[in-house]
Amino acid sequence: MSFEAKSAIVTGGASGIGLRVVERLVERGARVVVADRDREALDRVRQSFGASVAPVEVDVRNEDDIAAMVAASRQLGPLSVAVNAAGMGEGHPVVEEDLETWNRVVSIVLTGVFLSVKHEAREMIRHGGGGAIVNIASINANVPTWGSAAYSVAKSGVEMLTRSSSLELAEHRIRVTCVSPGLVETPMAHRTGNMTPEMVQRWLDHTPLGRVGTTDDIAAAALFLASDDATWITGHNLVVDGGLSHTAGPVTRDLVS
Ligand SMILES: NC(=O)c1ccc[n+]([C@@H]2O[C@H](COP(=O)([O-])OP(=O)(O)OC[C@H]3O[C@@H](n4cnc5c(N)ncnc54)[C@H](O)[C@@H]3O)[C@@H](O)[C@H]2O)c1
Repeated sequence: MSFEAKSAIVTGGASGIGLRVVERLVERGARVVVADRDREALDRVRQSFGASVAPVEVDVRNEDDIAAMVAASRQLGPLSVAVNAAGMGEGHPVVEEDLETWNRVVSIVLTGVFLSVKHEAREMIRHGGGGAIVNIASINANVPTWGSAAYSVAKSGVEMLTRSSSLELAEHRIRVTCVSPGLVETPMAHRTGNMTPEMVQRWLDHTPLGRVGTTDDIAAAALFLASDDATWITGHNLVVDGGLSHTAGPVTRDLVS
């Protein structure tokens, strides 16, 4: 998979899944606008990747920031790839959820992706069309977990935004897809308490492939969808979760001969 001389944007590209996507794109020849709100992490990205990246401080909730992010891609060439990975996890059970938290989660996780897709696609159209946008959703788009209603609703929205925009952008030869990770070890997974031994064991009890995901697992899927190997795929949600989403049925192994 070559991304030689391609211009790309990765939101949330200074940490975790987004950072691994940046690394893989740069390894394969792309020049990448790395958009994130974490200034210190962006400085580290600049030191690691030098001229292959253009770090831009962005809050994905702010449309002016998103417009500036897209404008920054013009120094690197016509935009042809975007991976929208910026996100956060926070929340409480519905009856305890406060409106401020709900609005913060939905504005970053869903509205941030809407603004990104809108401006990235406009830029691709401005250059005559063609390109691939990959949104990072979550298995929570389809599988609820305790205390994550706002996040799950927002990720469901990301999946439908992906499908809706894929329909509208096909005539411009722009493909829009999403990747839905299961539990992946990242700074966010540690911050949200998902990497304690007890929590990991609960996840592994429902993960046929028997391990937590890595940022490489997700970056590989995102790069495939962004690549020329996927030119007849659009609107698709690629679930990358070690099989967890398929385990809703009862465990009957000991009852079946
Ligand atoms: N780690 C998991 O288990 C997991 C599972 C499913 C989905 N995801 C999704 O993967 C994506 C990446 O998450 P991660 O686990 O790598 O987390 P991470 O915290 O390591 O990286 C997220 C990045 O997004 C940035 N960000 C957050 N809010 C932002 C904002 N308002 N504007 C700009 N940048 C912002 C952060 O600064 C950070 O660099 C997220 O969309 C997350 O919801 C993660």
